Amino acid sequence: MNELYELTNPVFNTAKMTLTLLSAVGNEDSVAFEKALGFEQMPHVDVKSGEYELLKRIGAITIELRYALANRLIEQAGNKNVLDLACGYTPKAKYLMDRGYNYVGGDLPAVVEDMARVSKELLDGKAIFQAVDVTNGTSVAAAAAHLPEGPVTIDCEGLVAYLDKNEMTAMVRNFAALLAARGGCWVTTDFESDHYFLAIIQAVTGGQGEKFLKLVDSQVNKKTADADHAPVFANDEEKVTFLESMGLSVERRPITGVANMGLRTLQACTPEQREAIAAALGKINVWIMTPSGAKAAQPAGAGGLAIDQDLNGDALIIRLAGRMDSISAPALLNAFWDIPTAVKDITLDLKNLEYTSSAGLRVMLIMYKQMGEGHFRLTNVNATVAAILKDTGFSQFFVSADGALSDDDVEAVAGGSGDTGGQIIFGTLSDWRP
Ligand SMILES: C[S@@+](CC[C@H](N)C(=O)[O-])C[C@H]1O[C@@H](n2cnc3c(N)ncnc32)[C@H](O)[C@@H]1O
Repeated sequence: MNELYELTNPVFNTAKMTLTLLSAVGNEDSVAFEKALGFEQMPHVDVKSGEYELLKRIGAITIELRYALANRLIEQAGNKNVLDLACGYTPKAKYLMDRGYNYVGGDLPAVVEDMARVSKELLDGKAIFQAVDVTNGTSVAAAAAHLPEGPVTIDCEGLVAYLDKNEMTAMVRNFAALLAARGGCWVTTDFESDHYFLAIIQAVTGGQGEKFLKLVDSQVNKKTADADHAPVFANDEEKVTFLESMGLSVERRPITGVANMGLRTLQACTPEQREAIAAALGKINVWIMTPSGAKAAQPAGAGGLAIDQDLNGDALIIRLAGRMDSISAPALLNAFWDIPTAVKDITLDLKNLEYTSSAGLRVMLIMYKQMGEGHFRLTNVNATVAAILKDTGFSQFFVSADGALSDDDVEAVAGGSGDTGGQIIFGTLSDWRP
């Protein structure tokens, strides 16, 4: 099962890194979680040991800071209900429940299965972990429904960078709708995480930030490279405008008082490094979003995925209906793995597919790669899905029935016209990742 989840959305691997870094700096709750989960220490990174040590230190400072800032933000918000989305494996559940908070963690199915074990072993089964894809409004609302009445603090750390524009829009709609209905706020360090990461690298390396960013990119992000995409926003102002357009007010609060947060990683720095980090962080903000009173966007994405198959000789038509995301896409991959090897030709009929996140696109590409050239096609690509293929850049991996697929072709499909007849075929490209 884990392989299915990993192929569908490899991003959950990044959460293991957070936990191993936190436990390596001596955070007791993390040590206990790591033991219960049976995770090994830091994954192997293929760089010279001196650089690796430095990289690990920078990672540890960043993660310990993020963890402490998130907990402080939740405490400052004052709501007793906490919805920790993309919760990963952090021991936040324990930290907050020890302090009297009601806690629900939501993440992809692979993570919540593991965390249910941790809840049972370490938290008397009282922490609730529920499968949530933040782009799926039904799953967000279902997780929130486990919390008692009253305002909710949504916390979401380490996720924004992995979302493309479509996914980000769906997530913000879901958060805004939930906050409009229940009151509360959404807190995160994510919108300026690249600023504080760079600030820490510069302070620790004495200005060699560029080099180390390249190292992180080439080594640490290897496992999640498939989830890479173009930056969604050009600058922080664009982020604010976007959030406000969804019915949220944005407060940007400078990161202060870091010296008094008891961070073990900072104690291990030289006084000069500590000072440089504190000074740089003072110019960086955490973000707090509250309902603005303007009409909130409607939640995005309801329901699951229906998969209907029709076998005719060695050709199979698979009709998809509903929504394909990190929760539902593994079912398609599972169905694909169950198809007899005699089947040489697969057509995915997308007429009734309402939405696909990158997890669904990833599964379609896996199917194409495993079927080989010319045996796998998408048909009846509707306007919504065609627009997603175009926006995510996935259309560059496809050809149409009569040759290379141009942007105009996709635009025509998205607009309901053009001569591809809604047919988009995976083919001729020997590998979708050039
Ligand atoms: C870098 S980890 C951060 C985990 C945790 N918040 C922390 O601070 O350690 C990113 C997390 O986002 C989760 N994730 C990725 N895409 C998601 C989605 N669409 N919906 C919900 N969670 C998602 C991953 O499974 C992973 O646990």
